[in-house]
Amino acid sequence: MHNDIEKILITEDEIAAKCAELGEQLTKEYDGKFPLAVGVLKGAMPFMSDVLRHIHTHLEMDFMDVSSYGGKMRSSGEVKIVKDLDTKVEGRDLLIVEDIIDSGLTLSYLVDLFKYRKANSIKIVTMLDKPSGRTSYIKADMIGFEVPNEFVVGYGLDYEERYRNLPYIGVLKPEIYGGEET
Ligand code: PRP
Ligand code: MN
Ligand code: MG
Repeated sequence: MHNDIEKILITEDEIAAKCAELGEQLTKEYDGKFPLAVGVLKGAMPFMSDVLRHIHTHLEMDFMDVSSYGGKMRSSGEVKIVKDLDTKVEGRDLLIVEDIIDSGLTLSYLVDLFKYRKANSIKIVTMLDKPSGRTSYIKADMIGFEVPNEFVVGYGLDYEERYRNLPYIGVLKPEIYGGEET
């Protein structure tokens, strides 16, 4: 375990099993279709990579980079498009892939945007859900794990751009971020 981590919440094996399980559900969901999987950079990268390898239908991948935290712990309340999709959304079945839903701001913004762009359907799969953080109403169609109100990092989740490469999801030691969560 990394020295900055207080405890491991979700192990590498638990993550792998969950990706297989979610992938199986998504394979059924999109059977005979050609969904557009939209990864939300940067946090969703490891999860996107793992879960999509368990989806056995044709699919297209694209990425969107939106940021509302700007390297800070707390959301600025404003979502900014850093990189837009290259793909036309109109008429497509979208699967948004996220690492975590916290306040819900990022995803409520994206869902509104993709509705405006006339997606045929929009579904959300997220590795983690932190319901205690919610300020914008948003519900994922598929959730890997629910997490408590703690500072979680790893498997895509960062604190000041670090820890994304940890293979597990852990709680960061408070002395690293210097304070109380939320
Ligand atoms: C994080 C995380 C989600 C979002 C969740 O991304 O990866 O995308 O915040 O928070 P919310 O529900 O309160 O909007 P961030 O904007 O930090 O960018 P990153 O993925 O590059 O870390
Ligand atoms: Mn993100
Ligand atoms: Mg971040």
